Amino acid sequence: MKIVVIGGTGLIGSKVVAQLNEHGHEAIAASPNSGVNTLTGEGLAEVLVGATVVVDVSNSPSFADDDVMAFFTTSTTNLLAAEQVAGVVHHVALSVVGSDRLTAGGYMRAKVAQEQLITSSQIPYSIVHATQFFEFAKSIADAATEGETVRLSHALVRPISALDVATIVARTAAGTPLNATLEIAGPTELSLDDWVRTALTLKGDPRTVVADHDSPYFGVVLKERDLVPDADATIFDTTFEQWFPGEVRA
Ligand SMILES: NC(=O)c1ccc[n+]([C@@H]2O[C@H](COP(=O)([O-])OP(=O)(O)OC[C@H]3O[C@@H](n4cnc5c(N)ncnc54)[C@H](OP(=O)(O)O)[C@@H]3O)[C@@H](O)[C@H]2O)c1
Repeated sequence: MKIVVIGGTGLIGSKVVAQLNEHGHEAIAASPNSGVNTLTGEGLAEVLVGATVVVDVSNSPSFADDDVMAFFTTSTTNLLAAEQVAGVVHHVALSVVGSDRLTAGGYMRAKVAQEQLITSSQIPYSIVHATQFFEFAKSIADAATEGETVRLSHALVRPISALDVATIVARTAAGTPLNATLEIAGPTELSLDDWVRTALTLKGDPRTVVADHDSPYFGVVLKERDLVPDADATIFDTTFEQWFPGEVRA
């Protein structure tokens, strides 16, 4: 089956493409680097010829409120219209657990707008809601750093490895449309500040992480369970401590 992966050069997308190809599909990585731009429409009709499924794991180059909203609404509108013309029968997208609880923040507001375009389109769909990727811990710390101090909410998280996210996205793309949202998470529930403190300590990062209930997470002051999934979520086994040794990054 031909499966076009929008954002197929990214963290998740490159792993999805590899897994789909390993399972005998014809997975195509589509992104500006391969001549496909969902914002301008460049290369979109061409890459979708003969495609059965589209996976959208693209991300906005800018997280500024207006930029991220423009990115997800414009790219999703263009993509769904092109899929309709090409006869695509399954649209798979990746979003964030709790997105609909967090629309006070611009990024989550844009993800919810993306999801609404998908659910109101004519194309059968599956939306995967993932928790924070293990790979994202440093970015979370960087966004919350003042001087040598990182102020983070004590709300709960249940982070997951990008490889596990890619596994479920690829599996979903190869299956029949859910016309619903599936939640996935890692094995361990802990507080956001505890997780990031552990990540920085393992990296030898000297910053001090302080728990601060009022510190916003990408524009939102979190309630305790805003970032964790419901009880029926699919839970993967890989722990942060198992994942970390192979992933030491600057
Ligand atoms: N970070 C988290 O913890 C988390 C949690 C849950 C869900 N998510 C979601 O996961 C998704 C994937 O994130 P990621 O970290 O894998 O992203 P990423 O590594 O930043 O990759 C972004 C991808 O989007 C592509 N892209 C950018 N502009 C494009 C355009 N105009 N047209 C087509 N493709 C474009 C990039 O292509 P080039 O390489 O050509 O620039 C790249 O392949 C996001 O939608 C995010 O909301 C993230």
